[in-house]
This record gives sequence, C-alpha cells and structure tokens, in this order.
Amino acid sequence: MKILFVCLGNICRSPMAEGVMKDLVQQHQLDWYIDSAGTESYHIGQQPDGRAVKTCIKYGINIGDQRARKLSKKDFETFDLIYALADEVLHEIKSSHPNPPQGKLKLLLDEVFPGEHRSVPDPWYGGEEGFDPVFHMIREACEAVVKKYGSVSSAVI
Ligand code: 4NP
Repeated sequence: MKILFVCLGNICRSPMAEGVMKDLVQQHQLDWYIDSAGTESYHIGQQPDGRAVKTCIKYGINIGDQRARKLSKKDFETFDLIYALADEVLHEIKSSHPNPPQGKLKLLLDEVFPGEHRSVPDPWYGGEEGFDPVFHMIREACEAVVKKYGSVSSAVI
C-alpha cells in the first residue's frame, strides 16, 4: 500500500501525518510506503515547521528529515490512497488534478467521521499549543486507516 498525505504547505499537517503513519506502519510491521506533499509551492525544499517537529518529538516521532514538495500529476499513478488533510485541500486537488482515479482521493477525517467533511485545522497561524490537538486528530485518523487497510493488499482497493 502506498499512501500520500496532502495539505497546503507540506510543512505542518501532512508532514505530521507522514511521521505518525510511518511510526504506525513500523509498529504494525506493514509493508507500506508513506509520503506527503502540498498543493502550494511556498515552502518547497523546506523542513517541517519547528512547532510541528517539536510536537512530534514529544511523542517520539522525528519528522525533521522531511522536506516539503508539491503534489504532482505522477502522484496519482504512484499512490493507492491520497488523503487530503482538509476540505479546501481536497477541493484544490480536484480543481488542479481533474478526474483522479476513482476512490483514490479521500478526506483524512472521513476515516473517523464518515461523510462529515471534517478538516484538520490549519495550525500555521496560531501558537505552538495548536499543534498538539492537530497531532491527536491525525493520529486517530491514521490508526483508523491502519485498522481499515492493515490486513489487505493494495490490489484489493
Ligand atoms: P500546512 O500549513 O498546509 O499544514 O503545511 C500551512 C503552512 C504554510 C502556509 C499555510 C498553511 N502558508 O500560507 O505559508
């Protein structure tokens, strides 16, 4: 299984999701490939936001080696599942990459709250304290993904 997480800048939410999911994948000994990307170009090549790095470290996860990149057309071939961290991100992906393969593009929090179109809030503009709740939302959703797909091969999806 190959999973891509997507937010706007690829420096806050999706790097945390990548780190959290890689940690779960290791714990569950899954043969999954995990990556993240952003819909915007502002931060390409940059490390994740220091507040995101610090929050993940608190939970034993190192995301400091990640570098921001932009979502590309090829990602729709490479990945089995592409999770948007927020509804605005989902809309942006759909408008810039029309007709993604059926069932591949999803909203991450739909795995916890199906059909409610919930978004992981953008913590970029607030203080460091905003990153902790974001971490927990992401972890709950990633655990749901592992529970849902942890025993199936990518060919089944
Ligand atoms: P992210 O957060 O999408 O979770 O990486 C943001 C990072 C940067 C900006 C917006 C959101 N920005 O406007 O630069």
